[in-house]
Amino acid sequence: MARIVGGLATTHVPAIGAAIDLGKTQEPYWRPLFDGYVPAQEWLAAIDPDVVVLVYNDHATAFSLEIIPTFSIGVGDEFPPADEGWGPRPVPVVKGHSELAWHLCESLILDEFDITMINAMPVDHGLTVPLSITCGKGSTCATPQAWPCKVVPLAVNVVQYPPPTGNRCYELGRAIGRAVKSYHEDLKVVVFGTGGMSHQLHGERAGLINREWDTRFLDDLARNPERLKRIPFLEYVRETGAEGIEMVMWLIMRGALGDNAREVYRHYHVPASNTAAGLIILEPAPAKRGTAKAARRKARPRSRGAVRAKRPRGQASGKRKSRR
Ligand code: DHB
Ligand code: FE
Repeated sequence: MARIVGGLATTHVPAIGAAIDLGKTQEPYWRPLFDGYVPAQEWLAAIDPDVVVLVYNDHATAFSLEIIPTFSIGVGDEFPPADEGWGPRPVPVVKGHSELAWHLCESLILDEFDITMINAMPVDHGLTVPLSITCGKGSTCATPQAWPCKVVPLAVNVVQYPPPTGNRCYELGRAIGRAVKSYHEDLKVVVFGTGGMSHQLHGERAGLINREWDTRFLDDLARNPERLKRIPFLEYVRETGAEGIEMVMWLIMRGALGDNAREVYRHYHVPASNTAAGLIILEPAPAKRGTAKAARRKARPRSRGAVRAKRPRGQASGKRKSRR
């Protein structure tokens, strides 16, 4: 059985990729940002996942505005870095996990999420920048020869109105959790949510950053996703800029982790280009001890209260502390 062992959400600003590719990571402008990603690199290397399900948005690169799927999954064996105007980034080809990707499509579609299946597509900064900053090495973020794990790309439309709601994204995440659990092979899976945080790239409000709003979003991601699920599209646009809507993709990651998750790390740095660069790492709450016994008790309605009372929801028991 495959397992989701962690979730990570990060900004995907293209200039971060350019700073790595052009050897600028140690410049004073960039260094604080890259320093903040070193613990994420260490966390991911320690987990050593077999597959990352990488939730991202295509920026009118693979799909253009002729075809705009709301949710799509890359089922191919590999995905080349896209040419976004300056030639493809000098990063490894992304290797897919076709069998898991097809299983996700089947499970999600039978679970009533209508997924577009993509056999071939280039992947833009929305996918390659998150891989670079979490799989690069050290504060220079040196690009590896090959990405350390397979990647299932899950693209979400947040470019053309109407994007999916936060609630729909969260529910899709929960369905991904169920789908991964029902996969036959014993794989370790990490889910990435990408994009955000507050940013607006154009018009009178270009450069808008909302630190307070972003901080509340980070605060609530692990323990109060119920609030985040209900944030309407207009609040994202008003409070976090036109492109802040990318944060709905973080809710897919959050939903995939299950009801209880704990924060193990975060980093927030302003600015990276026009964006408030956010990073957060969550882990699913450890499986409760005595689960079989608890399940038997749960089947008897009168003992339910007793089981819940012993172990309150959201109780963290891990050793690692959040760094804030
Ligand atoms: C920037 C941020 C993005 O999320 C993006 O897709 C493109 C540009 C930026 O801040 O420059
Ligand atoms: Fe973007």
